[in-house]
Amino acid sequence: MRVLSGIQPTGRFHWGNYFGAIKQYIDLQDAHDGYYFIADLHALTTIREPDVLRGYVRDAALDLLALGLNPERATLFVQSDIPEVSQLCWLLMTGAPLGLLERCHAYKDKTAKGMKADVGLFTYPILMAADILAYDSNWVPVGEDQVQHIEVCRDLARSFNAHYGEVFTMPEAKIVPGAAKVPGTDGEKMSKSYDNTLALFGDPKELRKKIMRISTDSRPMEDPKDPESDHLFLLYRLFASSEQIEEVKAIYLRGGFGYGDIKKRLADAADAYLEPARQRRAALEGNPQLVDDILKKGATKARQVAAAVLERAERACGLKNSLPQSLKK
Ligand code: TYM
Repeated sequence: MRVLSGIQPTGRFHWGNYFGAIKQYIDLQDAHDGYYFIADLHALTTIREPDVLRGYVRDAALDLLALGLNPERATLFVQSDIPEVSQLCWLLMTGAPLGLLERCHAYKDKTAKGMKADVGLFTYPILMAADILAYDSNWVPVGEDQVQHIEVCRDLARSFNAHYGEVFTMPEAKIVPGAAKVPGTDGEKMSKSYDNTLALFGDPKELRKKIMRISTDSRPMEDPKDPESDHLFLLYRLFASSEQIEEVKAIYLRGGFGYGDIKKRLADAADAYLEPARQRRAALEGNPQLVDDILKKGATKARQVAAAVLERAERACGLKNSLPQSLKK
């Protein structure tokens, strides 16, 4: 299977990014043909400081590699290194109904708050569709918040294929049920825009402090509690072994415990889980050339795939008639 996904370099990655998406990239990379990219073009809809964006792109590459993305197995690249995707985006735009985009949540949420949205944010799902379709992707591992965008992609592919013939492969979202919507420190979905994130990298002491400040309810200690509806437990479950999960579940159901103890267990489990990645990251930071080479090699490979798909789509539309049909499928 061809597996593809993208992640925006709009800040440091958090636990939601990892358990909802990045961990899937890594779990799928051995048995499948993985294409993973840093979505810098999408990030332009929010980050308009060139140095900041450059820094986040580099951090994203380091983070992904340190977390276990293996460039020998999967193809890692930067979105803007593949201009064919933007060209494909135009072909898709010409047939995209306005109503489909008006329903998309990123645009809808912003305008509902009375904020002015730009055209980039409005057409964001079409660029995402081009990202997916350009590589003949079968599976797209993502968190729940991206499922709507993948539906838009499928709609666009379906109507393009119906009009011009079978050009695009139909992709499917791949979500992990227990991690599709990782909660943040306040129990809402973990998200940079809600300021409730827990970082994957950074100062371990700061992380521990933030974990100790996770919001909890004020029910008496002795009351039994349902673990499945408690965000602290849902976070703990992501890091813990099955025996640890069962043990803590039993504590919740029995009652008579303090949340401080669970927070400490979570901090210890997260620390143990993240430490090897922290060490790998520190080693990679000292080798910027290696990271550049990985991204360059990934882009060269990704471009070949995207160029073939673009040419197929262009010819189907009636473009490129004067060129040899060398890449026609
Ligand atoms: P982005 O950068 O917002 O998020 C990257 C990935 O992290 C997942 N995620 C979560 N999963 C579970 N719980 C959470 N709290 C949580 N927060 C974030 C997201 O679902 C996503 O999978 N538009 C995309 C980037 C993109 C893309 C693509 C993805 C661009 N082109 C093509 C797939 C295919 C985005 O903004 O993700």
